[in-house]
Amino acid sequence: MASFVGLVLAAGHGKRMKSELPKVLHQVAGIPMIDHVVGLLVRSGASRTIVVVGHGGELVEEHLAGCADIVWQKEQLGTGHAVLSAGPAFHGYDGNIVVIPGDVPLLTPETIVELVNEHSSSGRSATVLTMHVDDPTGYGRIVRDSQGNVAAIVEQRDATEEIRAVREVNTGVFCFDKKKLFDALPRLSNDNEQGEYYLTDVIEVMISQGLSVGAVVLRDASEGLGINSRVKLSEAETAMRNRKRYEAMESGVTLIDPQSTFIDANVEIGPDTIIMPFTVISGNSKIGESCKIGPYVYICDSEVGNECNIGPFSYLRPGTSLSDRVKVGDFVEIKKSVVGEGSKIPHLSYIGDTVMGSKVNIGAGTITCNYNGTTKNTTIIEDGAFVGANSNLVAPVKVGLDAYIATGSTVTSDVPPGALAIGRARQENKEGWVAKRRAAQSSKEEK
Ligand code: UD1
Ligand code: CA
Repeated sequence: MASFVGLVLAAGHGKRMKSELPKVLHQVAGIPMIDHVVGLLVRSGASRTIVVVGHGGELVEEHLAGCADIVWQKEQLGTGHAVLSAGPAFHGYDGNIVVIPGDVPLLTPETIVELVNEHSSSGRSATVLTMHVDDPTGYGRIVRDSQGNVAAIVEQRDATEEIRAVREVNTGVFCFDKKKLFDALPRLSNDNEQGEYYLTDVIEVMISQGLSVGAVVLRDASEGLGINSRVKLSEAETAMRNRKRYEAMESGVTLIDPQSTFIDANVEIGPDTIIMPFTVISGNSKIGESCKIGPYVYICDSEVGNECNIGPFSYLRPGTSLSDRVKVGDFVEIKKSVVGEGSKIPHLSYIGDTVMGSKVNIGAGTITCNYNGTTKNTTIIEDGAFVGANSNLVAPVKVGLDAYIATGSTVTSDVPPGALAIGRARQENKEGWVAKRRAAQSSKEEK
């Protein structure tokens, strides 16, 4: 396939979002929009990815550290000006550039590859990715000449009634020949309704220079959705969520109720895992094969091995790692803990900052007391240990190999391997106590 450099435009304010947060950092399926776009370029085979930042640029730059090269557009004078600002970053480069707005998160690598291949094989100076939509509101309209060739892109604000009726619109994605692009950019004017230098006007400039421009039409227009408002953001969210559900099912995961199952964009799930309703798997979570999860389970930034059972009603917080065949039952919260193979935490527990070996049994209601008000401390529970119901393990503390904890214990010091720890007051029975009390009460009443 033909090579290219990706250039993402992400300097705009995103005024229509009505947000303090830069638009491209708003999330779609659990990850910022900009990550979808940068990830798309990487998966499409970009040799390099450059992101133009400006409004809220410090946040975007910090977020992208190490993932893309950053270029600053100090003043946001339009999409054409944004590309021009990136000029120095292309010094010495001579090849294809794919320009993508940072607010178009649903595109697929197949589309980008098709655009670049079509552009390269046709030998054009510019190829625009267009789409046919029922409602073209907000998009630039594609104007074609009598032979059907692209003649211009006209922004809605600058369009006549006749042009506004056109349903073929600009996705904002282009493939350009680098040299031709940077020859044309200085010729843009800002004589338009917004007083901006529009990248879209490059098409007319190139045509006036006798260069050839063309178009690739998106087969599935839902890919080209541009996010200018919270309403569009929610449309993208729904589309991306559905795509993730579809991918999971296609790769062998059973979703009992897809619409109540939420899987973030970066989550991976192994085949033959069954997910029951009202389950959320978020962040960078990774789930193994043949697990049963849900209903009502929330897993965030955690790893789950194969053949695990989780739920109903449990919560794996970030940094949790379950080995194979682990059972996490109902009303269990686990945070930043490692759980070894075959261990069971069946009911009503909090396990935090814990390193648990294999074949451990945690009785109902057991709590690791990991926080003393100042520091978080670690609990170690070695292989085969049996923790009786309703115990408190006060960290830092270690329960040795095969040790037993008597039910209801508060464990404050280490338990040696193979030992029984009883950390509670011994029971005392007072024979005849009830009858004595009654007698005392009735003599009081007589007086
Ligand atoms: C733009 C296109 C429109 C297209 C639509 C597709 C232009 C003039 N219009 O309109 O034809 O149908 O995208 O979604 O290009 N940006 C900068 N610097 C700036 C201005 C914008 O980096 O000075 C960035 C924005 O952050 C955004 C992208 O460019 O990610 C597009 O800008 P936006 O204002 O959203 O353009 P649209 O009105 O959506
Ligand atoms: Ca936009």
